[in-house]
Formats: sequence, structure tokens, C-alpha cells
Amino acid sequence: MANTEQSGAAAMGPTGRPITEFPVPAPLSSHGPARIISLCNQKGGVGKTTTSINLAAALAAYGRRVLAIDFDPQGALSAGLGVNSHDVPTIYDLLLGSVKDPREAIQHTEVDGLDVIPANIDLSAAEVHLINEVAREQILAGVLRKVSDDYDVILIDCQPSLGLLTVNALTASHGVVIPLACEFFALRGVALLIETIEKIKDRLNPVITMDGIIATMFDSRTLHSREVLDRVVEVFGDQCLETVIGRTVKFPDASVAAKPITTFAPDHAAAKAYMQLARELVARGAVA
Ligand SMILES: Nc1ncnc2c1ncn2[C@@H]1O[C@H](COP(=O)(O)OP(=O)(O)OP(=O)(O)O)[C@@H](O)[C@H]1O
Ligand SMILES: [Mg+2]
Repeated sequence: MANTEQSGAAAMGPTGRPITEFPVPAPLSSHGPARIISLCNQKGGVGKTTTSINLAAALAAYGRRVLAIDFDPQGALSAGLGVNSHDVPTIYDLLLGSVKDPREAIQHTEVDGLDVIPANIDLSAAEVHLINEVAREQILAGVLRKVSDDYDVILIDCQPSLGLLTVNALTASHGVVIPLACEFFALRGVALLIETIEKIKDRLNPVITMDGIIATMFDSRTLHSREVLDRVVEVFGDQCLETVIGRTVKFPDASVAAKPITTFAPDHAAAKAYMQLARELVARGAVA
């Protein structure tokens, strides 16, 4: 390993592939319509919200106009970006139609170019209310269509379930990014998730594509973390993104500060990893 430079071999990244330098995205001369991406995995605690927050902030840092949708009644994305989610219009009001214009629910964040539609515990009642609606799977798509032209990318932070809300998110999306934590049972449930995405592609949303799997909470010091990552690459090949997010307490710390890591600790390796993820997704064409 130490003499890779002398031997001329490319340095290998954690996914066992040569490290690619993804270029800094060129500035955009105009904005919109947005590409909509769901961050989705029905397994809890794998880094969906952390990835939504920090990918959104990284893309905004590259001059993209970003709207992050909190689509989890826990409201963790709203809290993590320091956005008020109580006594304000939320995504729940937009889904139920009590607020018609999504702009009434959009809040700006401290990050230039990053806006949020918040959620709170009300959203846990949405599935019950929507179950008898006409075209109940397409309600979020209809909401987002109204603001799509104002943004380059819309990221949806899904809740850990494959229920009607997540089906709405996937039906509204052009792409899906699946965060996978490098720990025991990482792959458990992923087959069901991919099957669900395939069904949605067949029945509701023919354009949806897999934008990639992002490995999170990777600890290079443990053999276990490396074994899990090797297995993910073996199963998913190029669908496993080259960027890997390391495990660090900086993430919980940044959540407490209600800031993305890219502003809380911009020089930290984890902030750089999310900047790289943004560049990789632009290089792959998942984001303009
Ligand atoms: N790379 C990381 N290193 C260390 N801790 C992390 C990392 N990513 C996320 N965390 C922490 O792990 C916990 C779960 O992360 P997160 O909330 O992003 O997952 P999630 O998939 O959105 O969870 P849920 O399914 O409950 O919505 C949080 O406390 C978060 O701060
Ligand atoms: Mg979450």
C-alpha cells in the first residue's frame, strides 16, 4: 500500500475501487426544474436524516437551490436544520390540502440556498387521512410540482417505514438514494425495499431510478465495518457510491447545534465526505 505511488497503481478507496476525484460542479446559469430524490430505507437509524441534511447543505454550498422535505413525523430534519416545526404550516397541511400553496410552508435555513418544508408529529396521522383519497399515492407529487421550478434539487427525508407516506415519496421522486449503515444486518430488508421501488416503477412512477447506495457509519478500524462494506459492494457493484461516510460523534454534536456538519465543522473529514457525496451525485448526473 505504502508504495502505490512508486508502482503507479491508483490509490484504493474504502469501497475497494480506485479513488476518483469528482470535479467541483460548474455553476448553474439558471435554476430548476428540480430533480427529486428520496432518501429511503425502512430500517431505522441508518443515516437517512443525517444524509438528507448534509447532502442538502453540501449541494447548496455548490450553488444549487435545494429544498429539503421533512417526511418523518419525528421532525428530525427540521430540528437538525434549526427550523421551527410547531404552529407553522407543515408538509402535513399540504398533503391534506388545508394549506394549498407550498410556499406558505417553506422556511429558509441559515445555509444560503437551502430551504425546508418542516414536519411534526401531526404527520403520523396523515396515512389514516389519505387512505381513502383518490390517487392517494400521488398527493406529495402534486404538492412538489407546484414548487419544482424554483429548485434544482428536492430531497425527501423518508421515515423508517414502507407505508403510504414512503410510497408517496417514491412516487414523487426521480431517484432514490439508500443510506446503509456499516453494521450488523445492514442488508436485511434491502431486498424488500428494492422490490418496493420496482413495484412503484411498474405501477406508479416509471421514471424512478436508483441513484445509489451510500454507506454510512463506516469505521475503518473495525474488521466488521470493512466486511459489511465489502459485502455491499459485492452485492450492488457500481450502485454502491464511492463516497463513504465515516462514523463520528461530530454528527450528533452538529444535530445538537442544529447545523449541518458542513457549517458546524467544515474542516472535519465527515463534512468533506458529504461535499464529496454532492460532487459524486452531480458527476453521476443525479443532480444538475
Ligand atoms: N456517520 C455517522 N457517525 C456517527 N453517528 C451518526 C452518523 N450518521 C448518523 N449518526 C447518528 O445516528 C443516529 C441516527 O442517524 P439518522 O437520524 O440520520 O438516521 P435515520 O435513518 O434518519 O433514522 P430514523 O430511521 O430514525 O429516521 C443519529 O443520532 C445521528 O446523529
Ligand atoms: Mg430520520
